[in-house]
Amino acid sequence: MTRNATDGEAPAADAVTCAGLAYSFGETKAVDGLDLTVRDGEVFGLLGPNGAGKTTAIRCITTLLPVPAGMVSVFGHDAARERMAVRRLLGYVPQQLSADAGLTGRENVALFARVFDVPRRERARRVQQALAAVDLTHAADRLANTYSGGMVRRLELAQALVSAPRLLILDEPTIGLDPIARTNVWEHINVVRAATGMTVLVTTHYMDEADQYCDRVALLHRGRVRALGTPEELRTGLGERLGTEGPLPTLEDVFRDVAGSGLDDQSGDFRDVRSTRRTASRVG
Ligand SMILES: Nc1ncnc2c1ncn2[C@@H]1O[C@H](COP(=O)(O)OP(=O)(O)OP(=O)(O)O)[C@@H](O)[C@H]1O
Ligand SMILES: [Mg+2]
Repeated sequence: MTRNATDGEAPAADAVTCAGLAYSFGETKAVDGLDLTVRDGEVFGLLGPNGAGKTTAIRCITTLLPVPAGMVSVFGHDAARERMAVRRLLGYVPQQLSADAGLTGRENVALFARVFDVPRRERARRVQQALAAVDLTHAADRLANTYSGGMVRRLELAQALVSAPRLLILDEPTIGLDPIARTNVWEHINVVRAATGMTVLVTTHYMDEADQYCDRVALLHRGRVRALGTPEELRTGLGERLGTEGPLPTLEDVFRDVAGSGLDDQSGDFRDVRSTRRTASRVG
């Protein structure tokens, strides 16, 4: 689905383009020649095992990390040279928790409204709208440290939505949530998408979510895209390759096919497990 651009942007620009993106932490090539296009208006899933490079790629796209090699652009703006222009187009829910437990829900969202340059006279209304979009109006004036894990994740979604982003980037938005809370997060996202045409780039380890909610997915392994397509294309493709008569492979089968052979100590190291656990325990 292609939507008209706002702010005089070129309407034809893709939401995200990465070409030959590479990023290393010392000797570790976290992202290693990543080519990726996220189209305007789609929900795009970035999948892959622990340590595949998803978060690193996302942090380059959000301009939180530099782009040392290759090119990243967001709606036609170069992430290396036009960082502020890129940031203005984005909402971002990081993998690590970002809500401040010592502030109320409303204060947390208001803080993001200020940081993301929402005009002062619109702030109160936009904060209210963002809280309502994630069903937190009733708890808006409670401290965030009284929220359940699912409420915290919804609050973070409100923080990302308050700037009315054209591109919403979510790094494991549903980790640690119960099945109902997971569905709720996706429903909230889809309501906003239906109203605004926002593009969504999401990472998740829940293959059922990717299958159900993503228009297209990319499977990353060791910093590169190893498979790309609609969930159905990937499932069908594996089915044809296996040539079995049995049931159609699931997206989890595709994931195992791409990642399974290479699950060695390079992927999913202690740091990843630790950070995921920390996130999961703080959220859930
Ligand atoms: N700040 C850092 N310092 C050193 N190495 C890092 C850092 N961040 C990531 N890495 C390494 O870069 C690689 C890619 O990590 P990244 O966090 O991008 O993976 P991921 O795909 O998001 O994994 P997960 O599914 O566990 O979130 C891993 O080998 C990881 O150990
Ligand atoms: Mg990650």
